[in-house]
Amino acid sequence: MSTQPAAASLEPEGGLKIPRHIGVIMDGNGRWAKQRGLSRSDGHKAGVEAVRRVVALAMDHGVDCLTLFSFSAENWRRPPDEVRFIFGLLRRFVASDLEKLHSRNVRIRVIGERDGLERGLLNIIDDVEARTAGNSGLDLIIAFNYGSKVEIVNATRAIARKVAAGDMRPEDIDETVIARHLDTSGLPDPDLIIRTSGEMRLSNFLLWQAAYAELVFVPENWPDFDESVFVRALRTYTQRERRFGGITT
Ligand code: IPE
Ligand code: IPE
Ligand code: MG
Repeated sequence: MSTQPAAASLEPEGGLKIPRHIGVIMDGNGRWAKQRGLSRSDGHKAGVEAVRRVVALAMDHGVDCLTLFSFSAENWRRPPDEVRFIFGLLRRFVASDLEKLHSRNVRIRVIGERDGLERGLLNIIDDVEARTAGNSGLDLIIAFNYGSKVEIVNATRAIARKVAAGDMRPEDIDETVIARHLDTSGLPDPDLIIRTSGEMRLSNFLLWQAAYAELVFVPENWPDFDESVFVRALRTYTQRERRFGGITT
C-alpha cells in the first residue's frame, strides 16, 4: 500500500503554488556572523529574527505546516558553549514569542529526541505543546535535537515491540504504519524543503518524509532570510513539475 502524495493548492494572486508543508534547514548563521566579524552566537541570535520572519511569511501565504530544523542530533559535536547558547535561545524564543503565536492560533509541536534534554527544557516543550494543542492555524513544528535516522530507529523499535507482543503481524507493516510511528505522525509530508547558505544536502532532516519533496537551495545565509528569498523559493517550487513517478499527460 502506498501513501497518497499531498496536493498543494494554487494561490490565485501571483500564480504561486503554495506548498501545504514547508520544511526549512536554517543554515549559515555562523558564516553570516563571520562575514561581519561577529561571534557565532551573534549569528544564532540574528537567526531567531529570521525565524520570526519565516513564521509570519508562512501564515501570510497560507501555508498549513512549517517545520524548522533548529538543532540536529549531530549538532552536539559543536563546542559546549555554542550548544548551551542555542538551547538558551530556544528557551528565550518560547518565553518571548509563545503568547503572540498562541494568539495567532499557531499550534506548536517539537520533534526530535527528548532523551538527553534537561528536565526544565522538557517541561517548557510539554507546556508549549499543551497550551497550543487546540489551535487550528499554522502548524509550527520545531525540529530540535532531531535526526531522521534516530527517528526511524525509534519507530522501528516501537513497531518491533508491538510485533513481539503479538499486537501486530509483520505483514501488517506498511508505509502508513511506519509513518504513524515517526515523530511527524499525523502531518502531511513536506512538499518543499528550503535550505539556506548554499549547502546542498539534507543533513539527516526528514529523510523518510522528504521522499517526494521538492528541494530548493538558496545562497543566502539564514539570518538574511526574508520575503524576497521566500517568494523566490516559492516561485522555483511553482515551476517544478511534480510527477511522483508518473508521467505528465
Ligand atoms: C545553522 O547555522 C544553525 C544550526 C545548525 C544550529 P550554522 O551554525 O550551521 O552556521 P554555519 O553553517 O556554521 O555557517
Ligand atoms: C543542519 O545544519 C542542521 C540545522 C540547520 C539545525 P548543519 O550546519 O548542522 O549541517 P552540516 O553539518 O553542514 O551538514
Ligand atoms: Mg551549518
